[in-house]
Amino acid sequence: MNKITIKGGLTINGEIFSSGAKNAVLPILAATLLAPGDCKITNVPHLHDVTTMNQLLIQMGARLTYDQHKGILINCSDITKPEAPYETVKTMRASILVLGPLVARFGQAKVSLPGGCAIGARPVDIHIAGLKAMGAHIEVRDGYIYASCDRLKGNRIVMDKVTVTGTENILMAATLAQGETVIENAAIEPEVVDLARFLTAMGAKIEGAGTSKITVTGVDTLKATAHQVMPDRIEIGTFLVAAAITGGAIKIHNNCHGELDAVIDKLKEAGADIESTPDYISLDMQGKRPRPVDIRTAPHPAFPTDMQAQFCALNAIADGTSIITETLFENRFMHVEELKRMGANIKVEGHQAIIQGVQQLSGAPVTATDLRASASLVLAGLAANGSTEVHDIHYIDRGYEAIEEKLNQLGAQILRG
Ligand code: UD1
Repeated sequence: MNKITIKGGLTINGEIFSSGAKNAVLPILAATLLAPGDCKITNVPHLHDVTTMNQLLIQMGARLTYDQHKGILINCSDITKPEAPYETVKTMRASILVLGPLVARFGQAKVSLPGGCAIGARPVDIHIAGLKAMGAHIEVRDGYIYASCDRLKGNRIVMDKVTVTGTENILMAATLAQGETVIENAAIEPEVVDLARFLTAMGAKIEGAGTSKITVTGVDTLKATAHQVMPDRIEIGTFLVAAAITGGAIKIHNNCHGELDAVIDKLKEAGADIESTPDYISLDMQGKRPRPVDIRTAPHPAFPTDMQAQFCALNAIADGTSIITETLFENRFMHVEELKRMGANIKVEGHQAIIQGVQQLSGAPVTATDLRASASLVLAGLAANGSTEVHDIHYIDRGYEAIEEKLNQLGAQILRG
């Protein structure tokens, strides 16, 4: 079952609803650790990473109840084991997000170091430095981060680099710290803002979320509350590319209006007609071959690294040459070798991929190496001539809810197994 087969050459056409955002729901689930009582989280996507985070919370002592409408009731009143073991963290780096909430509420945490992953080294030194600046005593030994403190104290924290989960960890920790915390050079990704909305509804005092300076005035306690997770802008972007790469047309309900502008601009440059409203986004690329577009990934609001692999696939069949520059992760071109197996003409030089578009890709057996790489191979398979088998497809279930059902509903022919 770890393989999908895609019949290429069919056009993606029709309407779908987007799912809740993976990168928003993971920190929000971690944030439920900050308060006793029942939190109700809705629009939760059915993803492997969500299951992993839920299991982690359950291992710590949380009680979870699922409803039939993508809702979860989470009760963190009795956390008995504030730990994230290696087995969990190694399968999902975002497990590190429990560190800040655990230290803030319980004054202790034991969280495995994530180590490297397929797309790069991905250290967590900035998370650790931030918590230390707030008075946490932190020791790293035997592959674990051991953190303890009486109560965290607010401080001014200048982040060395813009880090999304680093900002989220410190933001969550600061909500229960004594006094004021100022996070400078904070990530401004929409998912940080969604987390801040949830924390604010829990009673946190936060100003500036969505800007590079976030100010948090610590409170003594937070209360459990309800929250609806924002739509997944990367899922939306991926489906827009699916329609663009097959010369189709798509309308996606539950839009993330204003949060995908860099991607929309590049799709327009590639030749697509796009309409974005608060309710939906539509793309029309019928009868057109994509024009090549140069991409440079960078933190929000610039072009997201999580859309880079998908645009490699789009550029692979574009009418001309393009350059994709990856500035965030050092090893995020693993899909390129697989796309080449399908006839793509791509050369990687350091942080850049130089893509000479070909008229037509051809179906081939390929292997996914990470989440977004697997999406790019599926997109390439949709556009290719003949049949494409994508092996190790389990990566895609980490971040795309029911992807083959959604694509099949739009006219694709994808079979798992
Ligand atoms: C998050 C997203 C991921 C996305 C990435 C960049 C989640 C769950 N994941 O990952 O989908 O690809 O943002 O938009 O939200 N860094 C350090 N030290 C640290 C932390 C980060 O050097 O302590 C570096 C990283 O190696 C990387 C850069 O900072 O080069 C940005 O990474 P970061 O924003 O932290 O990525 P994640 O939060 O892990």
